[in-house]
Amino acid sequence: MRKIKIFDTTLRDGEQSPGATMNVAEKVSIARQLARMGVDVIEAGFAFSSTGDFEAIQTIAQEVEGSTICSLARAKTADIDTAWKALSGGKNVRIHTFISTSDIHLKYQFRLSREEALQRAVEVVTQAKAHVDDVEFSPMDATRSDETYLCEVIEAVIAAGANTVNIPDTVGYTSPGEFFQLIQAIGKRVPNIKQAVISVHCHNDLGLAVANSLSAIRAGAGQVECTINGIGERAGNTALEEIVMALRTRKDFFQADTSIVTEEIMKASRLVSKITGMSVQPNKAIVGANAFAHESGIHQDGLLKEKMTYEIIRPESVGAGKTSIVLGKHSGRHAFKTRLEELGYRPNEEDLNKAFERMKRLADKKKEIFDEDLEALISEEMGRSLERYQLVSLHAESGSGMKPTATLELSIGDKVIKKTGHGDGVVDAAYRTIAQMTETKSRLCSYMVKGITGGTDAMGEVTVILEEEGRRVTGHGADTDIILASARAYLSGLNQLAALGEKVKQGESKVGLI
Ligand code: KIV
Ligand code: ZN
Repeated sequence: MRKIKIFDTTLRDGEQSPGATMNVAEKVSIARQLARMGVDVIEAGFAFSSTGDFEAIQTIAQEVEGSTICSLARAKTADIDTAWKALSGGKNVRIHTFISTSDIHLKYQFRLSREEALQRAVEVVTQAKAHVDDVEFSPMDATRSDETYLCEVIEAVIAAGANTVNIPDTVGYTSPGEFFQLIQAIGKRVPNIKQAVISVHCHNDLGLAVANSLSAIRAGAGQVECTINGIGERAGNTALEEIVMALRTRKDFFQADTSIVTEEIMKASRLVSKITGMSVQPNKAIVGANAFAHESGIHQDGLLKEKMTYEIIRPESVGAGKTSIVLGKHSGRHAFKTRLEELGYRPNEEDLNKAFERMKRLADKKKEIFDEDLEALISEEMGRSLERYQLVSLHAESGSGMKPTATLELSIGDKVIKKTGHGDGVVDAAYRTIAQMTETKSRLCSYMVKGITGGTDAMGEVTVILEEEGRRVTGHGADTDIILASARAYLSGLNQLAALGEKVKQGESKVGLI
C-alpha cells in the first residue's frame, strides 16, 4: 500500500477564492484543525505577498505541530528570503517556489525565454536549498507546456536540490487519461526523478480536479495538493475530503492511502465554510448536508436491512451527524477553555473571558450548548481585534402596518453615538443606520443566515460578504436573536474593511502571484 502525502493549500490557494480572505487568528485555527486531521504539509500562505500572510505563516510555523509548514514564493530572490524569514522559527518547514513553463505564460506574462526561465528556476531552488532542506518546485501551467522542455526543467531543479516536483494543472485544462500519460512520461523521461516526490496540483475548471489527481496517483504521483471543500482560485482545487475518501474507500483499487484522520473531516469543512463565508452545496460529496441522506423508499428499505446495500462510507467515519452537548449553565471557565482547546482554539485571555461571559448568557437562554455554538462564539470574539466599530445596543421594531425601525448605539473610537433609522425590514433598517453612523459605503454582496443547531432556541449565525473599492471581506455574527447577529456580522465586515483600508494606506496590500 503506497502512502500518498496530503499537501493542503486551503490557506494559500483556497484564500485566493474571491471573498475568502482570512485574518491571522482564523488562519491559525484552520491550521490547527489541519494538523489535528493529520495533513502532511500545510501551505500556510505566500509570505512575500502581505504582512498578514507573513505573520500567519510565522505563527503557524512556530505554534502548529505535527505537519510540515510551507510558504509559497515566486522565483525571485526577495520572495525566497521572505519565505525563509517567516518559516525559520519552525521545526519542519518547506519553501515552495514556482515559475511558469508554458510558452503562453513565458511569452505573454513573464516575457522570458525558455532558457531564462530554466535558469531562474535552478537559481531559486539553489537559493531556497541554502536555507532549508525541504524544497518544492512547481512548473506553473505544466499541462500546457512542451513535454520535453518540462522534463528538462524538472531534471534541472531536482539536480539543484528540489525534493518535491509539483505538476500543476493551473487552468484546469487536462483530463484523467491525458494527465496519467503526462505523469507516467515524467516518471520515465526524467533521469533523476527517483530523487524527488512527484506531486500534483489540479484546478477544477472542468470539474475534473479530483479525477485528474486520482489518475496521477495511479501513474506514480506521491503527493496531492488540495483544499478543504475544494475552495480555491476560480472553480477551486482538488477537494481534500474527496481525494482522501476515494483512496480510503477504494484502497483495493488504488493500492494507496493517506494518513488523514477522516473523523476530523466534517469539523474542518464546517470551520472553513464558516470562516470564508463560502457555504457547501447540499449535494457536495462527503461534506454536503445530503451526502448521507437517503430519500428513496427502495434505498431506505435496503439500508434498514443492511447498511452495505446503499452506503459506501459510514457517516461517522468523516465525523458527520455527530453533535455533542458539551456545556451548560453550570459549566465553569476551565471546562469552557478545555473544550475550546480540544476544538483547536487558543484564544488570548481577553477573548476567552468575553466568550465565556457570552456563553453564560447564552446558557440562560438555551438549555444545551453544542460544539458548534462554542465555535461560533469564539471565532466571533477572536475576529474582533482591531475593531473600530462596536455595537453597544440595538433596539428593533417591526410588524404588520408599521415601518421597520432600528435604533443603534455604536462605539466609534472614543465616542458612543446613537441613531434611529428605517428600512424595508429590520435588518435593512439596522444596516442602513449602521452605514450612516459609520459613514461607510460598502456594498452588501451576500447575506446568509443559518440556524447553528436544531430547535427554536438555536443560535442564528449570520455571514455577510461586503465589498468596498474592490476589496471583499466576510463578516460573521452569532446570537439567539438574528437581528443582533445580523448587526454583529455587518460590523465585523466593516471592521475588516477598515483594517484592510489601513493596510493599503501603509502600503501593505497583498501582491498577486506573478
Ligand atoms: O495553480 C497553480 O499553478 C498554483 C501554483 C502556484 C502551484 O497555484
Ligand atoms: Zn493553484
